[in-house]
Amino acid sequence: MAKIIGMIYWKKLPKEERKTKIQNALKANVNFAKDTSLGYPASKLDGKVFFDADFLKDAPVLQTFVANPNHIGCHTLGDSESAFKGTHELEKEVLNVLAVDVFKSKPNEFDGYISPGGTEANIQAIWMYRNFFMYKKEAKLEEIVILASEDTHYSIPKGANLLQLDWLKIPVSFENRVIDKTALEEIIVKAKNNGKKYFIVISNMGTTMFGSVDNPEDYITILEKHNVAFKLHIDGAYGGFVYPFSNENSTINFSNPNISSITIDAHKMLQAPYGTGIFICRKGLIENVLTKEAQYVEGMDLTLCGSRSGANAIAVWMILFTYGPHKWFEKISVLQMRTQFLCNELDKLNIKYFREPFMNIVTIHAEFIPKEIAEKYDLVPETHNHENKWYKIVLMNHVEVQHLTTFIDELKASVYA
Ligand SMILES: Cc1ncc(COP(=O)(O)O)c(C=O)c1O
Repeated sequence: MAKIIGMIYWKKLPKEERKTKIQNALKANVNFAKDTSLGYPASKLDGKVFFDADFLKDAPVLQTFVANPNHIGCHTLGDSESAFKGTHELEKEVLNVLAVDVFKSKPNEFDGYISPGGTEANIQAIWMYRNFFMYKKEAKLEEIVILASEDTHYSIPKGANLLQLDWLKIPVSFENRVIDKTALEEIIVKAKNNGKKYFIVISNMGTTMFGSVDNPEDYITILEKHNVAFKLHIDGAYGGFVYPFSNENSTINFSNPNISSITIDAHKMLQAPYGTGIFICRKGLIENVLTKEAQYVEGMDLTLCGSRSGANAIAVWMILFTYGPHKWFEKISVLQMRTQFLCNELDKLNIKYFREPFMNIVTIHAEFIPKEIAEKYDLVPETHNHENKWYKIVLMNHVEVQHLTTFIDELKASVYA
């Protein structure tokens, strides 16, 4: 519990207070239904389809969806479009909660925004560091390289391709999914010998398939030993709303001076609508992706995506302030208990699996799962071909003990058959 005491920004707000805050934010925005607003290539949502009905007054997220504010740009730095300043403030509140209360940044020492998803947030990080090395350290493109484990999400190779960087894939042990430090050191030494001088590290807080959490110190120690420049990003797209709550001693946050940025997706564990990835970085970095040509935008565009829906920020705000930190902690604790229940049942059947102790993903050796059961229960394979070695179960909110029990009963029948 220690971790969630002493939060500065995050609290639970009663329903009426939440509603009033959002309605006041909307009032501070331009109102396309009433105001004379001639310049924007935007309006409220089409009234023939999206009625501005009275009941929306009691559904502030939907009301914001219809009002259609644009959150283009980054609102933690410089000016932003004044037409949407009310809801921009609530996006800033979301970022304060995550950057300061959850990920231990000092207040006002970070930048960030709600991005379309984890993919964009990860690419934004790589883009920012690539430019940082090129603009601030005079690095040549071919001297910069990405390091990330083989379990890393495919948004990293996607970003590497877009930004014309190599990705050096670090092997992990088959059973434990832990980074092979000997291989990591060999790869770094070889890269250095091949002229690489600047390393962009992506360290996972919950890999997609295993929920495994890399130890950033594995990278830091070896990179420091070899005296090379590096920047480190945490991909907490999945684990960002789990791990800091389940592991109260986690130091994978801005208290570690080597961690410079984090991706956290609200549209995964937080059950927010799609379009709610979150990117946060230390101050002094995001300027490296300033697009100077974005002159018609009031303020600076420091993001990859351009226009983005303000309703997404409000949806995340609403979830955070409906729960407050204690209820969120409780929710994660329940999911941890269900995960443990599943693991205990698998142990009884001598079925082999991987589970990171602080996460709610269980990845089972495929040889124990008949194909029919995998299909019936929608288990996700590591690869969709005959070489598949793993199936994962993600203990999301809708996965209850009764579902697990029926799954285990069927599995048991197949084990004893
Ligand atoms: C660890 C991790 N990073 C990044 C992503 C990409 O997120 P999105 O699909 O929101 O772009 C995912 C998606 O599953 C993920 O699991």
